[in-house]
Amino acid sequence: MIKKCLFPAAGYGTRFLPATKSMPKEMLPVVDKPLIQYGVEEAMEAGMNNIGIVTGRGKRALADHFDVSYELEHQISGTDKEGLLKDIRRILEECTFSYTRQREMKGLGHAILTGETLIGREPFGVVLADDLCVGDELGVLSQMAKIYEKYRCSVVAIEEVPRDEVHKYGVIAGSELEDGVYVISKMVEKPSAEDAPSNLAIIGRYILTPDIFDVIRNTPPGRNGEIQITDALQTQATRNMVLAYRFKGRRFDCGSVEGFVGATNFFFERWKAARG
Ligand code: G1P
Repeated sequence: MIKKCLFPAAGYGTRFLPATKSMPKEMLPVVDKPLIQYGVEEAMEAGMNNIGIVTGRGKRALADHFDVSYELEHQISGTDKEGLLKDIRRILEECTFSYTRQREMKGLGHAILTGETLIGREPFGVVLADDLCVGDELGVLSQMAKIYEKYRCSVVAIEEVPRDEVHKYGVIAGSELEDGVYVISKMVEKPSAEDAPSNLAIIGRYILTPDIFDVIRNTPPGRNGEIQITDALQTQATRNMVLAYRFKGRRFDCGSVEGFVGATNFFFERWKAARG
């Protein structure tokens, strides 16, 4: 069973300026919950209750969010507002939180390597909180954990995207092993539409085996001069099997305004339904 989940959360969130000038992008709320809380709830559902967060400068609000707020709780104690903290209280009861800081922005691979100290030598999940995922029945990480239990190798989540959008993603090529599960033969970070090996794009959910850390250490900078997890996984795929999994559900790219508004509308409908 995978117990740990890493949240790279050091990025600047430049696509959401000025909203993210002094607030971490992971704290942007979709209806009434910050993005990162959706990710943590998804990890928790998959049994990954040890949460590791790779933070950076200006990200203290993340650690404060996953902590008690005595003054606030005292104020609302006994009022009808108390219920609003129910979900976050459960998270605090059931999860542990550890933090480390990434001092320089050298890419997602580098961010994951920075988290090695929080993970150690065991398989772990990775959540990019700005990809907000809603699983059909199970959450996406739970679905992926099942694939991991069966094949015991790294797994990346994928979805089909239009050809003119492949340049925004890591893209895979592979052969289908079972319905929706591909053995990866090739991975390219942000290829042009002409160079893309397919239109199967990696989205921000990974399960990684711990040998990935040594691979990242030996991975030179790639696209945009950054150390890319896609390149490290490509190397891992030449040594061991790496799988891509077409998850069941939908995902909102909350790093873009369109995706963020789409997620807001979707969760607003749920929020209304929950209130009858
Ligand atoms: C990162 C990864 C990319 C992946 C994407 C998913 O890119 O490098 O391979 O497809 O996340 O959201 P970013 O969006 O951080 O540029």
